[in-house]
Amino acid sequence: MRTLNVALGARSYPIHIGAGLLARTERLLERLRAPLAAVVSNETVAPLYLPALAAALRREGVRVTEIVLPDGEAHKDWRTLNRIFDALLANRCERATTIVALGGGVVGDLAGFAAATYQRGVPFIQLPTTLLAQVDSSVGGKTSINHPLGKNMIGAFWQPRLVLADTATLKTLPPRELSAGLAEVVKYGLIRDPAFLEWLEANMDRLRAGDEEALEHAIERSCRNKAEVVAEDETEAGARALLNLGHTFGHAIETGLGHGAWLHGEAVAAGMAMAAELSRRLGWLDEADVERTTALLGRAGLPVQGPPLGAGRYLELMALDKKVVAGRLRLVLLEALGRAVIRDDVAEAEVRAAIEACCRG
Ligand code: NAD
Ligand code: GLY
Repeated sequence: MRTLNVALGARSYPIHIGAGLLARTERLLERLRAPLAAVVSNETVAPLYLPALAAALRREGVRVTEIVLPDGEAHKDWRTLNRIFDALLANRCERATTIVALGGGVVGDLAGFAAATYQRGVPFIQLPTTLLAQVDSSVGGKTSINHPLGKNMIGAFWQPRLVLADTATLKTLPPRELSAGLAEVVKYGLIRDPAFLEWLEANMDRLRAGDEEALEHAIERSCRNKAEVVAEDETEAGARALLNLGHTFGHAIETGLGHGAWLHGEAVAAGMAMAAELSRRLGWLDEADVERTTALLGRAGLPVQGPPLGAGRYLELMALDKKVVAGRLRLVLLEALGRAVIRDDVAEAEVRAAIEACCRG
């Protein structure tokens, strides 16, 4: 097992990474405030992992409420959130009940937002079961639901007390979902870890083949990068925004096509290709850098071209981004591979040209 710490003073918490961790309930038990847990999962993940987890917790005297949601990004909305509240109230869950998210980023974001707001905030634990959730969404305390007009627009910062990433759960993950997680892994290399970028270029085939050691290394390195950024800037006043490389373009793809049509990681991959192309147009990257970026994303099984929504529609949707300040678009771009910056002074014509260069059809 590999262990990292997210350093946030009194709210610091460990991230444990390793195969078979879900069966080792002692880590979880020591982070419960009381022997009360509400495990939130979905109809795909629950049959695979919830019965054993709930039985193990009950054996230790924990009262467990099971909440199973419909699967999919299209359900990351207020209706599904309200189903969680209905179940918490119907089962008389208390302020000392720990909400435990068992699933991918959608379950984690919904359960986390429920934990942030139920009875003004209850303890929260993340048990991520997708690669994307293990390298990104379970760490750092962002929780949210989507609004039809914008992705992740309603939410709260609410840190978990523990992240337990059982890498054995990745064995049941469909290959397309593994690739989506690799988008966020490549992101860390591109924004702040050039040595990791090189490691990824050398090891991408092992990762796609599900090589356990390679996956553990990639998860640990990704979480280390994320934990450092979050410790420096928990609520995204500055450096944390760099974790959004490709996301402004990507969120436009997700909202433009309807939430769930493309996987989040796929939209982020196409968005990172757009950010790289725009960085080339600004004279920071050269053609070879852009080619390196798109080749690596392609080898991860990810799209590097966006859907043909039309550049005008992209720009309209991008104007809704959470990084916008006083109506001004702020974009995460690459000064070099491994070094991201945030800029608010890029001419719209350049952004438009980069989008057009990176769209299919
Ligand atoms: P997801 O939660 O939809 O999971 C992907 C699919 O895999 C689902 O069908 C799920 O049921 C299934 N699944 C999960 N674990 C499985 C397993 N072990 N075996 C078989 N199937 C399994 O998607 P995701 O990619 O995990 O997360 C995407 C979401 O995360 C998006 O909503 C995105 O906005 C959010 N996100 C949040 C943050 C954050 O900081 N909070 C960061 C990045 C992404
Ligand atoms: N996924 C971006 C962040 O957590 O800030």
